[in-house]
Amino acid sequence: MNFNIIDIEEIDSTNSFALKQFSVGELKGGDVILANYQTSGRGQTQNSWESEKGMNLTFSIVLEPKTIDASKQFLITQVVSLAIFNTLQGIVNSNELSIKWPNDIYFGNKKIAGILVQNIITGNKISCSIIGIGLNVNQERFISDAPNPISIKNIFGNELDTQLLLKSLLYTFSETHKLILTAESVYKLKREYLLKLYKYNVEHTYLDKGGRFSGTIRDVDEYGRLIIIDHSQSERKYMFKEVEFLIDK
Ligand code: BTN
Repeated sequence: MNFNIIDIEEIDSTNSFALKQFSVGELKGGDVILANYQTSGRGQTQNSWESEKGMNLTFSIVLEPKTIDASKQFLITQVVSLAIFNTLQGIVNSNELSIKWPNDIYFGNKKIAGILVQNIITGNKISCSIIGIGLNVNQERFISDAPNPISIKNIFGNELDTQLLLKSLLYTFSETHKLILTAESVYKLKREYLLKLYKYNVEHTYLDKGGRFSGTIRDVDEYGRLIIIDHSQSERKYMFKEVEFLIDK
């Protein structure tokens, strides 16, 4: 995959900008919108994304997947989560790093990167996917009410070159992206994703609309639903936001 990086000093949100520009034919697959500063960076579900000017990576990759069914959007989530995970693992090399379902990157119990994928569906295919990535690199203090941010600098104490990190992330993304091409590699993609998953195969406390319960993550299905086995060995399946991970005490 060839990438064309479009560097912007300041923008409201790279995702909003990319969606707008793609819909008027000004962007195509492989374009990457990189902002030094976002005035209203967007997070999942109405949240905002805090990123101090020039300190971190905030960018959106434009992808034109063509062959992915709308119902299989989770493939993109897995590719991008795994790509960020593997890139960061090359730097921090720690078993504290994980992917928190569906697509947060965690170090210990803290969030180091967030992903916001917004798809344009044509017929039953994904015609365009805007993959927004916010990765905390050199920022030392976070002032928003985000519960648990952490940066690479917080972990190591030294600064990283964000441009080099972006190059390595895009390379890993294009390699990981190849895994969506065949049924065998899609299976491999899921295995790899599962093995990196926060609280995979260990008992943890969750909250759903029925209250608190204890259970163990066993799988994710092709639609991205999280599968947790509870104490009575029942399988519970959740879409995003239907279940909350409670903090370890
Ligand atoms: C989350 O809530 O975890 C998702 C955060 C995604 C933030 C990135 S920063 C670049 C891109 N542009 C945005 O407005 N949001 C995403």
